[in-house]
Amino acid sequence: MTHGSTSELRFPDGFAWGTATAAYQIEGATSEDGRLPSVWDTFSRVPGKTANGETGDVACDHYHRYPEDIALLARLGVSHYRFSLAWPRIQPEGRGGLNPAGVDFYSRLVDLLLENGIQPWVTLYHWDLPQTLEDAGGWPARDTAERFADFATRIHQRLGDRVTDWTTLNEPWCAAFLGYANGYHAPGRTDKAAAVRSAHHLLLGHGLAVQALRAGGARNLGITLNLYPVDPVTDTDADRDAARRVDGLMNRIFLDPVLRGSYPADVIADLASITDTEHVRDGDLAVISAPVDFLGVNYYSRHVVRAGGGTPGTGLSPFVGAEDVDFVRRPGWPTTVTGWETDPDGLHETLTRVTRDYGPLPLYVTENGVAYDDQVVEVEGESRVLDEGRRTYLEDHFRAAHRAIADGVDLRGYFVWSLLDNYEWSEGYGRRFGLVHVDFATQRRTLKDSGRWFAEVTRANGLEVAG
Ligand code: FCB
Repeated sequence: MTHGSTSELRFPDGFAWGTATAAYQIEGATSEDGRLPSVWDTFSRVPGKTANGETGDVACDHYHRYPEDIALLARLGVSHYRFSLAWPRIQPEGRGGLNPAGVDFYSRLVDLLLENGIQPWVTLYHWDLPQTLEDAGGWPARDTAERFADFATRIHQRLGDRVTDWTTLNEPWCAAFLGYANGYHAPGRTDKAAAVRSAHHLLLGHGLAVQALRAGGARNLGITLNLYPVDPVTDTDADRDAARRVDGLMNRIFLDPVLRGSYPADVIADLASITDTEHVRDGDLAVISAPVDFLGVNYYSRHVVRAGGGTPGTGLSPFVGAEDVDFVRRPGWPTTVTGWETDPDGLHETLTRVTRDYGPLPLYVTENGVAYDDQVVEVEGESRVLDEGRRTYLEDHFRAAHRAIADGVDLRGYFVWSLLDNYEWSEGYGRRFGLVHVDFATQRRTLKDSGRWFAEVTRANGLEVAG
């Protein structure tokens, strides 16, 4: 559509615009109302594991301030809000009956969202495993998958009358490999075979939960994966093989079981020196590939790799099954404070690749966003955060998503990470991803300029483009 010198980049009618958060990153109140510790409560207390020893004890105090945060969502004009349920708040020991106060918190949150015309988009697991379940073996133990399905079933019985959109897991790659192989995330174990078993049991938990929720009448069910294009730095056979392995061990190891009902043979071969597949039982893959209604894609960056010696300090090594792969930074390429390269074309590539390789299926970008060192400044008596960089970053990624739709991708929605500056796991509070700035000393919230701009995008269902 063209109006004089401006045109509009419109998204399909009914496109879901939202923001995303996760329980441990925003809620705080970690020992209130019957909540027990999760692996993150324990891990963040281990000296040296998180920046400045920071924990999620208070975080954004969202547990007490959720009405204010929902008012911010309303100001952003979003149609949807993606948040996760804290398993240790709802079922504190990971088994048995639910904690009424925990259920009540999410029930109130859901009601207030709906009163504001915002559709709740629930993630059942965003990494906060009850510590009692970790003590009983954690994700390397098969029983944890059963426990997860039980938790999912019980909370769906309580919220399913109002919540239609359910995501089982957020980024099982991080939970399994950062949590159990390189120790960068909770629970901080460094056992490669345990990480591979964890990946399978997370997937099994996903499949069991999908079956249970489907039987319970849930309408929109899916899983969220962190996906990356993986490129070889040169066209040599060795570099191309490095890229194949990383793609296998980050992307296809999850995509194939969920969407094709099998593990990729090359990935099994790459992992053979680490573990056999005895933990994969007959029938598991049929459970894991129970049909989903959508795939959630979290996209932040691209990986460029070369055959080499393993790069320490990237947060990716030891990289299970690809210990001899180097992750390469491209000289001159824009990076953000996280060290991740900004590469919007990679989003287009990821969405089109999934559509091409796994058949047309509804996709949602369930996370995309960027951290900057944002400051609150006073401009003509008004508190502002002049985060032009984030606006540009988002605009470039929205355009890439729009191009993917034009190229045939069934993209149904887009959730910006994140609503609020929050606890960025091992990186602590120093990584500000929010559309809303949080002063962690006072809990004062300030809508950033990018948030003001995002409100225009949600209301127009698209971008106004000069030219
Ligand atoms: C993703 C996580 C999310 C947040 C962003 C920056 O991997 O799902 O919780 O940490 O990265």
